[in-house]
Amino acid sequence: MAFCEIRRVLISDSLAPACAQILHSQGDIEVTECPGLTPQELISKIPDYDGLIVRSATKVSSDVLTAATRLKVVGRAGTGVDNVDVDSATKNGIIVMNTPTGNSISAAELTCGLILSLSRQIPQAASSMKQGKWDRKKYMGSELHGKTLGILGLGRIGKEVAVRMQSFQMRTIGYDPVIPPEVTAEFGVEQLLLEEIWEQCDYITVHTPLLPSTTGLINDAAFSKCKRGVQVINCARGGIIDESALLRALESGQCGGAGLDVFTEEPPRDRALVDHPLVISLPHLGASTHEAQNRCGEEIALQIVDLVKGRALVGAVNAPSLSKAFSPQTKPWIKLGEALGTVLFHLLPKISGEIRVTTTGDSLKNSGSFLCSAVAIGLLQSTEMKVNLVNSCLFANEVGIQMTSQHSVESVETRLEVSTEGLHLVGALSGSTPCLIQIGPSHFRSPVSLSGTVLLWAGETNIPKLLGVLSAAGSNLQTFHSSGGYSVAGISAPLSDPSPLGSCRQITL
Ligand code: NAD
Ligand code: MLT
Repeated sequence: MAFCEIRRVLISDSLAPACAQILHSQGDIEVTECPGLTPQELISKIPDYDGLIVRSATKVSSDVLTAATRLKVVGRAGTGVDNVDVDSATKNGIIVMNTPTGNSISAAELTCGLILSLSRQIPQAASSMKQGKWDRKKYMGSELHGKTLGILGLGRIGKEVAVRMQSFQMRTIGYDPVIPPEVTAEFGVEQLLLEEIWEQCDYITVHTPLLPSTTGLINDAAFSKCKRGVQVINCARGGIIDESALLRALESGQCGGAGLDVFTEEPPRDRALVDHPLVISLPHLGASTHEAQNRCGEEIALQIVDLVKGRALVGAVNAPSLSKAFSPQTKPWIKLGEALGTVLFHLLPKISGEIRVTTTGDSLKNSGSFLCSAVAIGLLQSTEMKVNLVNSCLFANEVGIQMTSQHSVESVETRLEVSTEGLHLVGALSGSTPCLIQIGPSHFRSPVSLSGTVLLWAGETNIPKLLGVLSAAGSNLQTFHSSGGYSVAGISAPLSDPSPLGSCRQITL
């Protein structure tokens, strides 16, 4: 697949040295490290690169992605991809991948550190010592033992926080709309409705992504339902706890303290929360450990090497169906999908509406989604757009084509069928060569190879005339198949002018 060719990678944030070393030694990739580029500098540099690796400082905007004419992949060495315009990357056919597990432990440990710091005001007390004070009365704390911790978001980090804080004998309750209660019960978290959570918690920590549904998850209304003096922690993303509501709750005493690693604006220009005496704030340090940075740097480099070598697609956030497409066995099927799409494009004057992709045979059971993308590439070949497996179904949709896929158990033969109103194509592999078996009513007696240059037309043909045109053009007839109204000829070199052959279509596959 063309988009896997990655020769030059730009690393635009500060990353562990292992990242560049792995790319270079295992992927034979030339790496340029340029942390701290301005947006304009990045836009002017990016057209020279096939890959870009970032942490959270680089903003990979639509302007950057549009300027990135040869970019195939954006690697985010970390979890959140909110600094990457993922929709724009998809439109531009660029894979976005992250390393979702590499820094979970570090972020969980920091969260636990903030809970402990809040319970005993450790940073405030340490700072007063440095000012020469000995304030034993002022820094009276409270034990965590027996207190209730509410965890909103029980994915990777939420779970790690739960199991750690249970060792302090905290009761852990929580909420997650996706992870089932029986799963969280296995790691000691009882799931309750949010309405039940607010009133029970002494501490609440958020570990969700920032989504429209999680923005302001802890807001004025939520604070008003909490125990007076509740303490809150945000090591996820700024804005999950509404910052203005938090300030009001701190001022009124409804909130007794907050530990914040993240802010809606980073660094925050509005200092009200940072300067508040009950707030312990950090400059987004969740992933800032040697271990997490080494892990994320190594993981993103290895994922890109796997992509280059065509071994696997790991961690893609905008092309999940493609992760199944990366094995040597699937490549010829992708070629067949593209070829059938191309044949359809040449046979039908206008393509719109539903295009149904049907797979048969056990080995194609989970291949429908990426084979849909492959067929769509063939259908869209005349467009100016940079179409590939990442964006083809999206573009097809934009021009009124709905790609659908299904797996049929009616036949045990391994085949790929593409149907639209009026035309049905069936293809299969002969070895690893994509072949056509059927067009509409025409069943070919032996499979028709869909590679190289192929002439295709509806109806019988005048063979002497075909041979004459080919010989005048210096091309040879290599294969010829005709059945039930369609003819297909494989030829050795493309014709500069196929018009003497009438309605014949020349396709290069
Ligand atoms: P994850 O995907 O494993 O877990 C997130 C969970 O949130 C999911 O289980 C999801 O179902 C749940 N969720 C979604 N909407 C919800 C809602 N409305 N209410 C409750 N739960 C909801 O993610 P993760 O790896 O655990 O990361 C969690 C957060 O931490 C992310 O925002 C990530 O970007 C952030 N993070 C921050 C740092 C840091 O440096 N501070 C480091 C790593 C990750
Ligand atoms: C992440 O999402 O991985 C963290 O916020 C850490 C980081 O940005 O480096």
